[in-house]
Amino acid sequence: MPLVLLPPEPAKADTESLVAALKKNREWFDQMIIKNSAVLLRGFNVKNAEDFNEIVEACGWEDIRYIGHAPRTHIFKRIWTANEGPLSEFIYYHHEMVLFKENPKKVILFCEVPPPEGGETPFVPSFRVTERMLEEFPEEVEEMEKKGLMYTFTAPSTNNTSSMRGRGWQEAFGTPDPAEAERRVKAMGMDVEWLPDGGLKTIICPRSLMRVFEGRKGRRMWYNTVVGMHGKEISSATMADWTDIPNHVVKRCGQILNEESIQFKWEKGDVLFFDNMALLHGRRPSLPPRKVLVATCK
Ligand SMILES: [Fe+2]
Repeated sequence: MPLVLLPPEPAKADTESLVAALKKNREWFDQMIIKNSAVLLRGFNVKNAEDFNEIVEACGWEDIRYIGHAPRTHIFKRIWTANEGPLSEFIYYHHEMVLFKENPKKVILFCEVPPPEGGETPFVPSFRVTERMLEEFPEEVEEMEKKGLMYTFTAPSTNNTSSMRGRGWQEAFGTPDPAEAERRVKAMGMDVEWLPDGGLKTIICPRSLMRVFEGRKGRRMWYNTVVGMHGKEISSATMADWTDIPNHVVKRCGQILNEESIQFKWEKGDVLFFDNMALLHGRRPSLPPRKVLVATCK
């Protein structure tokens, strides 16, 4: 993992024939992603956001608009920058948009500028985390599963670009109007609380601990973000009835995520498709420059 697809004749590789091949083999390609969890297209001479957008559109999946707290910039049609938070920081493992009702089935990344050092995109097979947590903490997992989970997250009053999760609520929810932001948050099945400093606290409850998705061998995915949000200054994760999730359980889960992670190292022009239902992903710290673009699909 990932499954690597290379051009049959590297010297003649070009985006145009790649796009034609993708259009012709849509179903097969979709199956390859589900079967392997990730597919890499390497050596196709993909140069920029325009090329990348054509590849994304060739696959035929509908776009899903990113909602969340990561600072991102729109580049071209369906293409955005990946999280622009400081490269020196590790972006913790997550399923994309895991807390929202609707989340992307596919995440597609394109490497325009590979970092000189570091900056790998780690992947974690989600079902492995569930298996290992059940082995070590069967009772705690059962309790969390039965009760469900509750998260809180605070978006600041204005953008803070020095933080990876520093998107102000206006941008995170796409409106400068507090009433409209509140309406949008609620429409996504969350509750809101305005803080004295103008920040917007969202309360997300109940959410499941694990999920099983069609076509993924009945595997139970660790489809939550407990480790990423538990006990932080701007976020929390508890059971849905406010029961604490024990520290040692969260800590051990973090170690398991690390142990199960697979490091993916970027080369210029790589296009990587992954199954967001099956894999958690993150970003390792790197030296600048690093430019990775993203598209998310239903
Ligand atoms: Fe992500």
